Amino acid sequence: MLKILVTGGLGFIGSHTVVELQQAGFDVVIIDNCSNASEAVLDGIVAITGIRPEFVRMDLRDKAGVADFFSQHPDLGGVIHFAASKAVGESVEKPLLYYENNITTLVYLLAQLTALPKAHFIFSSSCTVYGQADEMPITEDAPVKPAESPYGNTKQIGEEIIRDACHVHPALQAISLRYFNPIGAHPSAKIGELPLGVPQNLVPFITQTAAGIRKELSVFGDDYPTPDGTCIRDYIHVVDLARAHVVALQRLLEGKNPGNYEVFNVGTGTGSSVLEAIQSFERVSGTPLNYKITGRRAGDITTAYADTTRANTVLGWKAQSSLDDAMRTAWAWEQQIRGL
Ligand code: UD1
Repeated sequence: MLKILVTGGLGFIGSHTVVELQQAGFDVVIIDNCSNASEAVLDGIVAITGIRPEFVRMDLRDKAGVADFFSQHPDLGGVIHFAASKAVGESVEKPLLYYENNITTLVYLLAQLTALPKAHFIFSSSCTVYGQADEMPITEDAPVKPAESPYGNTKQIGEEIIRDACHVHPALQAISLRYFNPIGAHPSAKIGELPLGVPQNLVPFITQTAAGIRKELSVFGDDYPTPDGTCIRDYIHVVDLARAHVVALQRLLEGKNPGNYEVFNVGTGTGSSVLEAIQSFERVSGTPLNYKITGRRAGDITTAYADTTRANTVLGWKAQSSLDDAMRTAWAWEQQIRGL
């Protein structure tokens, strides 16, 4: 069995990807510093797959630790790199922390990988690199806009670092996946999103409001130039997103990639407004949601949804779940962790 390193493998997207990798027959080793995830996530993974992945608790800023890890794991078939900080607001307050957590660690990993005879690398990027794109749906050829936050900048810089490294290291084979808005949870409700403190993202705020943890959801603005006035996003089920990582890795392992660096959008191709997301939640949960319209949130773009043609045709991957499916699983997960 080929061994795959998943950094940040206890996190939201990471844990779902570990499950999909194991179910596709890969042997997984996780590195996570548990700064925003709990070791108990391992039990959820075992409950789904019956397999406990090897787990190394380590901070990737520990350069010597990273080097040790690679010397002890000479048999890695690939690396999927999720470990990063992701709170937009916090990144504005603590830019240097974000550059250290997201950029320094990437450089340390790539330094190890470029010393190997062959390396396969999948990077966790974001549609945030497009900013407010001029045309919808957004193709991978849309220009990268100046970043709105240090967090967004770390994704842009991260992609550039990988591109530059691939340029001079032909044995490094890499793919960046630009995620749209990942939501939902595993259908087993054994793993899901576990935001620390007050959720910043829409769907965990919705489910926590319905669970009675938050009083009401604020809808950030209904005066946008969209049909119902609220912002439009491309919400993708986290299991579909996890599957995209397995497919991208397999592409590299099978040598199907014509160049050694590629970029793919990972979304559903469908835009949904905030009010449509709320209606979807109410429909699948049978629970009316307490919400009010408030002012716009600084930095929000109006509309973003993916053109997924490249992922569909080149990777042979397509999102299978609907917004309702994703909401149903997000709600089942929230109910499970709250004992509802
Ligand atoms: C946000 C980040 C993005 C990051 C992504 C990671 C910002 C500006 N962008 O994307 O860089 O890659 O998370 O998941 O923070 N909304 C409400 N009420 C809420 C929360 C959200 O109305 O309490 C609305 C927002 O205005 C937005 C939509 O819901 O229109 C989705 O918001 P969110 O889940 O935070 O994702 P993004 O802002 O798209």
